[in-house]
Amino acid sequence: MKILVTGGAGYIGSILVPELLKRDYEVVVYDNFMYKQSGLNNVCYNPKFHIVKGDIRDREKLKTHLKWADVVIPLAALVGAPLCNQDPYTATSVNYQATLDMIKELSPNQWVLMPTTNSAYGVGEANNFCTEESPLHPISHYAKEKVKIEQELMQLSNAVSFRLATVFGMSPRMRTDLLVNDFVYRAVHDRAVVLFESHFKRNYVHIRDVCRAFLHAIDNFSQMKGQIYNVGLSSANLSKKELCERIKAHLPQFTFVEAPIGEDPDKRDYIVSNEKIEKTGFTPEFSLDAGIKELIKGFTMIKNANYSNV
Ligand SMILES: NC(=O)c1ccc[n+]([C@@H]2O[C@H](COP(=O)([O-])OP(=O)(O)OC[C@H]3O[C@@H](n4cnc5c(N)ncnc54)[C@H](O)[C@@H]3O)[C@@H](O)[C@H]2O)c1
Repeated sequence: MKILVTGGAGYIGSILVPELLKRDYEVVVYDNFMYKQSGLNNVCYNPKFHIVKGDIRDREKLKTHLKWADVVIPLAALVGAPLCNQDPYTATSVNYQATLDMIKELSPNQWVLMPTTNSAYGVGEANNFCTEESPLHPISHYAKEKVKIEQELMQLSNAVSFRLATVFGMSPRMRTDLLVNDFVYRAVHDRAVVLFESHFKRNYVHIRDVCRAFLHAIDNFSQMKGQIYNVGLSSANLSKKELCERIKAHLPQFTFVEAPIGEDPDKRDYIVSNEKIEKTGFTPEFSLDAGIKELIKGFTMIKNANYSNV
């Protein structure tokens, strides 16, 4: 199987690509390396791994690699609401226009597995789980364009959309701007966090379970195609305050205080049902507590500000 991963040198890609190679797939990573990242150093030895340095907005360059692929996993994007707010024009040209052009270029027999975001649920109803059928209320530029792309994606017969929960866990191309990663980083290095909108609930998922969901979709494609799936830990629909309590259980010296300042650019406050993907036979393997322990180890090794998207 030949797999093209755009943005494959990113946080998720740097964990996913080695897993694809372990299965003996041939993998092309197409990435502009905007973070000067080198998270794929350890797979360069593999003859089935190929790198193309390019921008997905370069349609001619991307076209050749798109044609080659049996499966396309589009990860290339300006990721996260704060980064997109910082440069909305680039965000639209990459996250919406170039991604749309790419989707339109595909032939009906090519498979697409695409992460979108469950931040599109915006403010959900209290005690009411958001399912894939729930109304979407994207608020940020980032979430709105992810919703538009998902609608286009669902016009294809051979596509799967994963509405990912907030991802956590270590990756060679680390991101400390993700909520769990951020809080554990602060707990390790600052021993304190000031919480805003502390009662807002979200769903979380380990980065390796995200990669397992992609592999699961490859293995069960005929059953899963044409569908949208929430991907998160059903055991982790937690408020920011509850998340801090879980971190404190591992790092007792950690303090958190609630303050009436600041707000989430995505206004995320929802609980999510992951039952649909679970019914296809997918079960996450990594708990939130395992992820917190992993992050404590990781952040004991690294301390710098180069790993945030903003
Ligand atoms: N991490 C999460 O919590 C999360 C949640 C939901 C969805 N997603 C989605 O998963 C995908 C990957 O996210 P990530 O967390 O790995 O982010 P990331 O920022 O680490 O990865 C994005 C990658 O895209 C590359 N890139 C950016 N612009 C490009 C361009 N114009 N041309 C080519 N490459 C370009 C970057 O160099 C980077 O390697 C994104 O589409 C994101 O929206 C992530």
